[in-house]
This record gives sequence, C-alpha cells and structure tokens, in this order.
Amino acid sequence: MKKTIQIAIDGPAGAGKSTIAKIVAEKLGFTYIDTGAMYRAITYKALQQGVSLADEAALSELLRQSTITLKPSERGQLVFLDGQDVSEVIRTNDVTASVSEVAAHADIREQMVAAQQQLAEAGGVVMDGRDIASHVLPQAELKVFMSATVEERARRRFVDNEKRGIPATIESLIEDIARRDKLDSEREVSPLVQADDAIYLDTTSLTIDEAAEEILRLANAQMN
Ligand code: CDP
Ligand code: CDP
Repeated sequence: MKKTIQIAIDGPAGAGKSTIAKIVAEKLGFTYIDTGAMYRAITYKALQQGVSLADEAALSELLRQSTITLKPSERGQLVFLDGQDVSEVIRTNDVTASVSEVAAHADIREQMVAAQQQLAEAGGVVMDGRDIASHVLPQAELKVFMSATVEERARRRFVDNEKRGIPATIESLIEDIARRDKLDSEREVSPLVQADDAIYLDTTSLTIDEAAEEILRLANAQMN
C-alpha cells in the first residue's frame, strides 16, 4: 500500500489554498479539510443569533453546542451546521468581515484545533488554513506556505464573487483582505506565520495547475 502523509497548507486569503488543496487531495486520494469553513460556520451562527463577536465565553458555548461537518461532493466540499447546508451562506460579505474576530479567541481556537486534529486521524490528509503547520498538524510531512500579492488575491476574489453574485469592488476587496491579513497575522493566539520548516510557494504568476503540480511533486518526494 502506498504511504499516506499529512499535507499542511497555510497562507493569506486568496492565495489559492483551498482550490489547490482540493486538487492535490483528489489526485492523491486523500481527504481535504477546509478549516476556514469551520471558522466561517460558527461566525455565521453567531451573526444569526446576535451573539457579540467580542464575547468569547458566549461564542465558545455556542460552538460547544454546534455540530460542524465537512462532506466532499461533486460540487466541492459541503459544509453543514447542525445538519443544515451552509456552504454558500458562509461566504457572504457579512461572514467574511466578521470571521477573523471570532477566530482570534483562544477558546474557539482550542475547540477547532481539537476537532481538526480528530478529522486528520483518518489517514492521508490535505488541510488548509492559517495555523495548520504551526499548531494543528505540527508533525505534517509536508508544509507549504502559499501566498500571492494582495492585488492578485483581490482580483481572484473579485472573479469568485462575481460568479457567486456577491457584490464587491476590487478596492473593497483589497481593503478586506489587507484587514484580515493584519488581524490574522497579529493576533495573540496562533497567528498566521510561515512555519520554520514550511516551503514558500508564491502563486502570483502560477496557474492553478502549475501550483498543484508543484505540491504534488513535493508530496511524491515525501512518499517515495
Ligand atoms: O477563503 P479565505 O482565505 O477568505 O478564508 P478562509 O480560509 O475561509 O478563512 C476565513 C478566516 O478564518 C481567516 O481569515 C481566519 O481569520 C480564520 N481562520 C483561522 O484563523 N485559522 C484557520 N486555520 C483557518 C481560518
Ligand atoms: O483558499 P484561498 O483563500 O487561499 O484561495 P482560493 O479560494 O483557493 O482561491 C481564490 C481564487 O483564486 C479561486 O477562484 C481560484 O480559482 C483562483 N486562483 C487562481 O486564479 N490562480 C491560482 N494560482 C490560484 C487560485
């Protein structure tokens, strides 16, 4: 049987993590886990229920009482919150603007990291997020820190949003992405950082296939 490994992909918004992680997982027959979707799901619920994004205790209790499930499907990974498909509603501007505040709370991160580590026990896994190499899977055989210029990341998001019918301008996206990058990189608990043993991959001028090929090459080198 072919060896399985854990692949951790971190980086800022719009770097291409989820698109490329999904392709790599499919090619290797591994499980893909989008940890950002889990933070988005609890943020969506907090907004729905009017829970203050600053109230760590209330948010933690809300998360303890919630069930977040990720399911692969033909149209990508589906996200279920308490049995309801929230795959689309967790991508709205409201959730995007609030998620980094929720994700900064230590209690929220502790619960999320434990759940993500459990999901990774299944075997070969490709997990993407902000703290995967540094906290969730520090033992991962392959760690990649993916990035691209903020202008290119905003351009990609603009195209994504147009397809989803989410209103935005390039300027508002650059602002949102820069704000989230700052919050994610400067928070006290497990900030977005490139792990010492992670490989840096700049996707600014790479196609999706080129970036996926590079990670597959690195993964195969680990498995052979
Ligand atoms: O897709 P996009 O890059 O916009 O973001 P995402 O991966 O869906 O993550 C949304 C937010 O969740 C990030 O901006 C972080 O604040 C938070 N997050 C985190 O703190 N840790 C993770 N492992 C994944 C996401
Ligand atoms: O997960 P993350 O926020 O890092 O980025 P993503 O959601 O995977 O990628 C954002 C958008 O950029 C998607 O529509 C990708 O198809 C696109 N993309 C691209 O055009 N070229 C790349 N090299 C990587 C991603």
